[in-house]
Amino acid sequence: MKDWSPTSWHGVRAEQQPDWPDPAALDRALKQVGSYPPLIFAGEARSLRAMLAQVAAGNAFLLQAGDCAESFEDFSAVSIREKLRVILQMAVVLTYSLGVPVVKVGRIAGQFAKPRSNPFERIGDVELPSFRGHIVNAPTPTEAARIPDPERLVQAYHQAASTLNLLRAFTKGGFADLGRVHAWTQEFVASSPEGRRYENLAVEIERALRFMRACGVDIEGTHNLHEVDVYTSHEALLLGFEEALTRQDTLTGGWYDCSAHMLWIGERTRQLDGAHVEFLRGVGNPIGCKIGPSMQGGDVLALCEALNPAREPGRLTLITRMGAEQIEGGLRPLLAAVRDAGHPVVWACDPMHGNTTTSVSGRKTRDFDAICAEIDGFVRAHHAEGTWPGGIHVELTGDDVTECTGGADRILDSQLDDRYETVCDPRLNGRQSLDLAFHVAEVFRRSGLV
Ligand code: PEP
Ligand code: CO
Repeated sequence: MKDWSPTSWHGVRAEQQPDWPDPAALDRALKQVGSYPPLIFAGEARSLRAMLAQVAAGNAFLLQAGDCAESFEDFSAVSIREKLRVILQMAVVLTYSLGVPVVKVGRIAGQFAKPRSNPFERIGDVELPSFRGHIVNAPTPTEAARIPDPERLVQAYHQAASTLNLLRAFTKGGFADLGRVHAWTQEFVASSPEGRRYENLAVEIERALRFMRACGVDIEGTHNLHEVDVYTSHEALLLGFEEALTRQDTLTGGWYDCSAHMLWIGERTRQLDGAHVEFLRGVGNPIGCKIGPSMQGGDVLALCEALNPAREPGRLTLITRMGAEQIEGGLRPLLAAVRDAGHPVVWACDPMHGNTTTSVSGRKTRDFDAICAEIDGFVRAHHAEGTWPGGIHVELTGDDVTECTGGADRILDSQLDDRYETVCDPRLNGRQSLDLAFHVAEVFRRSGLV
C-alpha cells in the first residue's frame, strides 16, 4: 500500500474523536493496549474476506448483527450466549430458506465507541457532553461521568478479549451444533407464531439430517454441521485504539487491524479526505462503509477507489442506511454506478439507522414495519438493477427488551418504558429478530431471487 503506515492518519483530520483531557494518560493507555496480544489473527480476516467474496459474487448471504453499543455493565455469559443464539437462529432460517451459505458477523467483542450527531445532549435542564460509548465515558448524566477516561480503552480491550473467548468456545464447543436447532428454541419463541415457524423449520432440518445419515453421509464427521464461524466486527471509530491493535502479519508482511475481523466506517466519518478512510485503506481486513441518503454515485465510486483500488472481491462491503422512504430510489443509481464500474462489492442493508424516530414518550425507537419496508425496497432496487442483495446489518439483542415498536408482539409506544435497556440505539429483541429473518426469507422468495 503506497504512502501508508499505521500512523499515516495522524496528519489528517479525524472526526468524532473524544477530547481526552490528559494526553499523557491517553498515551499510556494506548501503549498498554499496543503491548497486548492481537484479538484476531490475519489468517482469520483473510478467511472472512474469501467468504465475503462469495457474497459479492451472489453465492452467499451476509448476516451482520449485534448490539448498537456493547456495555461495560451488561457483560455476562448469559447475554453473550443469548445474542449468539439469536444470530444462529436467524442464520439457520436464512440458510434453509435462501439455500446459500450465511456468513455470520457479530457487532460484538469490540463494538463500544459511538459517533454522535451532537457533541452535547440535553438531559432535563442540563446540557452535558454526549455519551460516546463505554470505551470513552459513562452514560451517567453528570459532568464528571462524561469526561473521557483513557483507562476505559484498556477495559474495552479486556472485555472484547473475554467476549471473543466465549464466542469461540460456544461456536466450536458444541453449542452451535446443527443437531441442536431445536434446543436453541427459547421458551418465549416456542409460544409465539414465529416460534412455531422456527419449530417447523427445525423439524424439517432434523428430517433432512436423518435422510442424509440414512443415505450414508457421515453426519458426525462433517465438521460444518457441528461448528460455525462467527466473525467479529465494530465501527473503527477511535483511531488511536485501532492503531494500537494494528500488527504486521508475519506470513504476508501485510498490516491487519487485529481488534476485529471486520471493521466499518460510519456515516459520520466516511469523508474521502478524512483520517478514517486514510487509516482503513491500508489494513488487509474486510472493510465496511455506511452509505447514507445523501450519497451520489460519484461519491460511492470514489470510496470504492480509495478503499479497494485493487478491486478485490470481499474487501469492501457497502452498508446502505437510507430510510424506508428513500432506499429504493436512492439506491438504484448507486447500484448501477458500482455495477457499471465493475467494483466487486458486497451490498448490505442496514434497515435500522435510517428509520429512527422519537416516540410520544420521548424514547428513541424504530418501527418493525419500517425496518421490513427498508429491506423490501433494498431487495426491489437490486432486483431492478440485476445485482445481488448480499446481506443485512441489524442491531439486536437476545434479551426480551422493548425498544423497537411493532413485530409479532405488537409492542406499542406506551410499552417502550417497560424494558428499554439499550445504552444507545433501540435494538430488535429476540422475537423481532427471528421474525425479521423470516421476513427476509419471504421477500427473497417473492422476488424470485431464490
Ligand atoms: C451504527 O451502526 O451504530 C451507527 C452509528 O451507524 P451510522 O454510522 O450508519 O449512523
Ligand atoms: Co446504532
